[in-house]
Amino acid sequence: MEKTKKTIMVTGGAGFIGSHLVRHFVNKYPEYRIVNVDKLTYAGNLANLKDIEDKPNYKFVKADIVNAEEMQQLFDVYRFDGVIHLAAESHVDRSIANPNAFIYTNIVGTANLLNAARFHWKDNPEGKVFYHVSTDEVYGSLGETGFFTEETSYDPRSPYSASKASSDHLVRAYFHTFGLPVKISNCSNNYGSYQFPEKLIPLFINNIQHNKPLPVYGKGENIRDWLWVVDHVRAIDEIFHRGQTGETYNIGGNNEWKNIDLIRLMCSIMDRKLGRDAGTSEKLITYVKDRAGHDLRYAIDSSKLQKELGWKPSLQFEEGLEKTVDWYLENTEWLENVTSGDYKKYYEEQYVNR
Ligand code: NAD
Ligand code: DAU
Repeated sequence: MEKTKKTIMVTGGAGFIGSHLVRHFVNKYPEYRIVNVDKLTYAGNLANLKDIEDKPNYKFVKADIVNAEEMQQLFDVYRFDGVIHLAAESHVDRSIANPNAFIYTNIVGTANLLNAARFHWKDNPEGKVFYHVSTDEVYGSLGETGFFTEETSYDPRSPYSASKASSDHLVRAYFHTFGLPVKISNCSNNYGSYQFPEKLIPLFINNIQHNKPLPVYGKGENIRDWLWVVDHVRAIDEIFHRGQTGETYNIGGNNEWKNIDLIRLMCSIMDRKLGRDAGTSEKLITYVKDRAGHDLRYAIDSSKLQKELGWKPSLQFEEGLEKTVDWYLENTEWLENVTSGDYKKYYEEQYVNR
């Protein structure tokens, strides 16, 4: 997509990755108008965007992607040239507790956006981009070796990943059947500032700080490939502007960590930052019942993206984790706000009354 004046819809822009993406696009491309469409679920928070909310090229619209009519109306009003679709229910544990919310938002919501884009772009698809942001979890679970490539067969195993896989299939179907100009990326686990403290890293930082148990699922032997959220956003920027239409790109950190090793690293960083004796926070580690259907290992082969578009991660993990810990320790007000209210109920149901 050319960098002339364009109006871009970003869905889910008040969430973790979405807010980093909105910030990046608003600051880097003053010639674009960025319209952030978000329902503001428990995971959406306008405080994530405080620093850019008054910029002239930014607009927030509170709307639910499950409402088809509302999506059509937004296309009527804003005449979007591009869509970067991140809005989703994103937490695996919540998908186990309540799959339907994932089916509505992740599948029906994506279909509504595809229909709106198809209807509005059918006579003039030139230069338009429908970019769907997806996950490596659609590929299923790896054994001890191997990597997910763009050719790996889909094998989703949680309601979350099954709903994301369905949405990926719909996006590709609209490309092949209707010629909708789509792009897809599948990324590994992100970490960084503004991540909701239901996900491993911010949850454990918060618990360590408050001397609460660290609930390690199973034996802590599952492996994830961690990528700094800003590096994910940089990849989305490259793919959005220079990626091939109809193509899929895998994005990953080439940075595999066994959960328990990562947790021990977090404990030692936190001991140092909080002035505690070495080994103090590790005592909070508590092995709990495993997640149902817990995928053993994810690992991404991002060589296509690296070769075609020259992207690579910019930040070493240890440095990124240290920066992330600093951010949460410096932003206690943000953390307190998001962990008040409904979070307490979620926490009780997920970790206390199991
Ligand atoms: P998040 O849960 O932090 O944010 C999701 C956002 O979507 C929130 O702002 C929420 O209010 C909004 N939203 C939810 N339902 C909506 C609806 N019906 N209508 C409009 N807005 C709605 O999620 P995240 O971690 O930032 O993930 C963003 C996207 O990236 C998701 O599509 C996710 O599948 C994908 N992804 C995430 C990761 C990761 O590690 N977090 C990795 C790869 C891909
Ligand atoms: O791989 C990309 C995916 O990464 C994204 O698509 C998802 O939106 C995102 O939530 C993330 O999924 P995971 O399930 O891998 O992330 P989570 O932070 O929930 O868990 C990371 C690992 O830590 C996983 O093996 C489960 C484990 N875990 C998690 C929690 C919340 C624990 O042991 N204890 C916990 O309390």
